[in-house]
Amino acid sequence: MQKFDVIIIGAGAAGLFCAAQAGQKGLRVLLLDNGKKAGRKILMSGGGRCNFTNLYTQPGAYLSANPHFCKSALARYTQWDFIGLVNRHQIPWHEKTLGQLFCDESAQQIVDMLLNECEVGQVILRLRSDISAVEKIAENYELVLNDSRVCAPKLVVASGGLSMPGLGASPFGYRLAEQFGLKVLPTRAALVPFTLHKPLLTQLQTLSGVSLPSRLTAEDGTVFNEALLFTHRGLSGPAVLQLSSFWQPGEHISIDLSPQQSLDALINNERQAQRNLSLKNCLTKVLPKRLVEILQQLEIIPDVSLKQLNRKQQAALTATLHQWRIQPNGTEGYRTAEVTLGGVDTHALSSKTMEAASVPGLYFIGEVVDVTGWLGGYNFQWAWSSAWACAQAL
Ligand code: FDA
Repeated sequence: MQKFDVIIIGAGAAGLFCAAQAGQKGLRVLLLDNGKKAGRKILMSGGGRCNFTNLYTQPGAYLSANPHFCKSALARYTQWDFIGLVNRHQIPWHEKTLGQLFCDESAQQIVDMLLNECEVGQVILRLRSDISAVEKIAENYELVLNDSRVCAPKLVVASGGLSMPGLGASPFGYRLAEQFGLKVLPTRAALVPFTLHKPLLTQLQTLSGVSLPSRLTAEDGTVFNEALLFTHRGLSGPAVLQLSSFWQPGEHISIDLSPQQSLDALINNERQAQRNLSLKNCLTKVLPKRLVEILQQLEIIPDVSLKQLNRKQQAALTATLHQWRIQPNGTEGYRTAEVTLGGVDTHALSSKTMEAASVPGLYFIGEVVDVTGWLGGYNFQWAWSSAWACAQAL
């Protein structure tokens, strides 16, 4: 049996970063992953450019049953610390929007940077590792792998959430937590597109590809001002992905299709200038033409000129376009979700070290923990911050 100081399960964002930090402290680190490549989600992220952090990272951008839990790690290893690391590796980056930082070139540079940091720490990385059992025997965690047994007094679980099973996602971390008596909160796909019920979907399907600025509101009052995208399955785009984390099955969402311009004011102004202008042509000044055409077919927009539009019709129309209530059928689920809500209950973990209070030597970091960020680099920052906090304690 090979013995290590630390074994880390999962060579994703959190596992790679934690392994590198622990290795550079002089610990003998074994990093295990079931895939044939390390950092597969990093490679896929940000359209291949990895949105690796967010300038405005703060605890309010995270969902958790215990909203205070993320504060300590985020404060001790900040977005500025990670930007410093990226700069030291001379990886060029830019802010795309809303504080979201992306690589100029490729997400591969972030994976290479993490692998390079692991190499400096002499981390042993074993890919294609199937872990069939984990046991605590005396002071050590013993793991049964495909072809061998390994052990260490410290075990870090960084096996991620359930999203994108095609990229190696598995419930391994949740099962392991339960094996050691820790509570796992119910999980659910998040940062995920909505699907629509059949009649509405059929009507809106031809809008697939149309995108526009919007303001989306969930039933709990959460609001996101970002782009909305119509797809052949339903609704997507940053505003929808964000809102999906705050939506429960059966609930409605409210969509403001013109958040920056009052449609009432637009119609009134245009009516003064050209009374015979069609309502449709008036609205295409601020809304995509295809959207206006479909909404006219749905009889949400009447087929009249501005002079024919009476006050009652105008009030009903502008209320609908600024507060279009839709009841999604569901979400696309883990197949396309960026993250998983829920996970290992943080009440059982130390927010300073990520160690399970009742199981000395067992740590949980990254997405497997019940901490889920907004869209925009927040989830990777949680991976870096929780990994760093854990590594300091190993
Ligand atoms: P992560 O999922 O990265 O790693 C877990 C690792 O554990 C995987 O390598 C997996 O193979 C391995 N594993 C699982 N089960 C195992 C087992 N039984 N045995 C051994 N190994 C096992 N976030 C962000 O901030 N900015 C962005 O741009 C994006 N973009 C994005 C795009 C897409 C398509 C997805 C799916 C997700 C994102 N995200 C994101 C979210 C981000 O990728 C995610 O939050 C982090 O990768 C979480 O890091 P972890 O290390 O916790 O898990």
